[in-house]
Amino acid sequence: MKRVLATVLTLCIASLSLAGCSGTTTPADTQSAPAPAPAASSEAAAPAKSTNTKLTVGFAQVGQESGWRDAETSSIQFYAGQHVDTIDFKFADAQQKQENQIKAIKSFIEMGVDVIGLAPVVETGWDAVFTEAKDAGIPIILVDRRAKVPDDLYTTFIGSDFINEGNEAADELAKVMGNKGNIVELEGTVGASAANDRKKGFEDQLKAKYPDMKVLASQTGDFTRAKGKEVMESFIKTYGNQINGVYAHNDDMMLGAIEAMKEAGLKPGQDIKTVSCDGVKGIFEAMVAGEANITVECNPLLGPQFFDTCQKLKDGQQVEKWIKSDESVYRADTAAKDLPTRVY
Ligand code: AHR
Repeated sequence: MKRVLATVLTLCIASLSLAGCSGTTTPADTQSAPAPAPAASSEAAAPAKSTNTKLTVGFAQVGQESGWRDAETSSIQFYAGQHVDTIDFKFADAQQKQENQIKAIKSFIEMGVDVIGLAPVVETGWDAVFTEAKDAGIPIILVDRRAKVPDDLYTTFIGSDFINEGNEAADELAKVMGNKGNIVELEGTVGASAANDRKKGFEDQLKAKYPDMKVLASQTGDFTRAKGKEVMESFIKTYGNQINGVYAHNDDMMLGAIEAMKEAGLKPGQDIKTVSCDGVKGIFEAMVAGEANITVECNPLLGPQFFDTCQKLKDGQQVEKWIKSDESVYRADTAAKDLPTRVY
């Protein structure tokens, strides 16, 4: 199943070319779209909204960087694939570049989709293109990551409370470290809301509650396993056995860090305590093996909620400004029982 989804994913997102996963729409189709309608709130003419009776949705994904993100992409594409009779879906893989996401959004506006979904690779720099979407009368749904824009430029945010995840990560690490010791931090992609807020939530909590816990060093591992390993290797070289705990903004980076610790002859989960965010299967396996301590869950299975919200917007219904994900904290002592229940 995993391989099938991965194949679907690869086929759908191999490049930035915007093709509907339903296979019904190509960029060429957009050239024969209906003539532009008068602008809603700007001087320039806005593209026509889709006359398609189907719900037409464009989604600009960050790119492929972690098991978590693959799970989110699969959740969205799977839902669209199950509803090809009612949903016309266009997907863009931005390959970790904001400029590619901006290009994708502009293409979706040109196509006159009903709703645009975006997982913003970074928080800032969206005002101009969001204003274009607003002027075209196309609502923007932020999915999993936030953008720093005025409230009127997006319709809703579907996702987690990253500040709270950072708070919880600090509390959990404090418990296994006995409220004291030195920590190294693997940050997510520079400028991403998931990285900014998880860092802030963690630091604020240490400051407020744990004066004897200190962050020795903090560096980006770009949310990837390979970079997480590389950065952890350099932390080990510099700080050696002064390190008592690792905080990683996602599980994939922690899995890389675990490899680095083992290769250096250290015992992750024992000599060095760990906490990371996401809740992917790999970290549960590491917890079962005694090589990781805690994961703070972040739910990637947002497909059904996303399309449900798109449909509500097409139907003219109001939606909450923040549709919050429901999440838990998982620890090593229950990992063996929890692992079989994990779906990503
Ligand atoms: O925005 C959510 C974060 O981004 C996930 O924790 C991470 O794995 C992803 O890439």
